[in-house]
Amino acid sequence: MSDLLSVCDIKNDVENILEIAKKFKEGKIEGKPLEGKALAMIFQKSSTRTRVSFDVGMYQLGGRPIFLSSSDLQMGRGEPISDTAKVLSRFVDGIMIRAIEHDDVVELAEYSDVPVISGLTNLEHPCQALADMLTIKEHLGEFKGKKLCFVGDGNNVCNSLLLITAILGMDMSVACPEGYEPNEEILKKAEKLANENNAKITITSDIKEAVSNSDTIYTDVWVSMGDEAEEAKRQKDLSPYQVNKELMSYANPDAIFMHCLPAIRGEEVTSEVIDGPQSVIYDEAENRLHAQKAVLYHFLG
Ligand code: CP
Ligand code: NVA
Repeated sequence: MSDLLSVCDIKNDVENILEIAKKFKEGKIEGKPLEGKALAMIFQKSSTRTRVSFDVGMYQLGGRPIFLSSSDLQMGRGEPISDTAKVLSRFVDGIMIRAIEHDDVVELAEYSDVPVISGLTNLEHPCQALADMLTIKEHLGEFKGKKLCFVGDGNNVCNSLLLITAILGMDMSVACPEGYEPNEEILKKAEKLANENNAKITITSDIKEAVSNSDTIYTDVWVSMGDEAEEAKRQKDLSPYQVNKELMSYANPDAIFMHCLPAIRGEEVTSEVIDGPQSVIYDEAENRLHAQKAVLYHFLG
């Protein structure tokens, strides 16, 4: 039995999952492969895309999603994660969790008898990365020889992108100010994977260097959920890293713009870019559903 806590957990399955996601999108997988199965969905943080795409995905596959806000669960009143995992395992066929602390999800998976799927933690956002790669494949046609540039805070989304691009052999650069670099351990793992797959990773504070020759410009909010106390400092430190028309002009002319959403127009990206012709944000959001269905099919099917 396996879990999806990190992109590394699906190192050998990424291409297969993307292929299944494409088939779901094209309507080529019929029937109700998850009929009679139930998915517990624990949310310790807000969500629009992850919650709705897992819920609708589960429904379309014939299964039953159960939304569990952590404030309503006994876990929110201090019931141990281990008991929660063992009890839920007696009821459901899989647990999806959006958690504040990555280590709590690791603990949940340790005690769970059913697959645990991360819907975002402070460290990674693996399901987002899968949807992003599906979107890139659709728009760029391939991964090898292409470059993704992530601009801004080297956060959970950036960490998962580093791993997944390295697995697929796509080059990736990160343009971030000092102190906002991606997680060190993840970076080491990504560099090893990139070496194996002839891909290149660059981490730099030099925006022009990072953006040049890029086929995808990707950004995310400067203040992630949980970082609210640092809001003012983050806005100040990250303001030179706004994705605007000038920054886009350093990338390849047909580069696409991506953002996991939710976005703050006027902060990490201007309206001109996110609502402009190069933006593929709504394809990217839609692909959460197709990727989620492929993940559910892979882990629960
Ligand atoms: N991109 C993403 O995970 O969106 P939500 O926070 O709305 O789920
Ligand atoms: N980095 C953001 C992603 C939201 C989908 C956060 O963690 O809040």
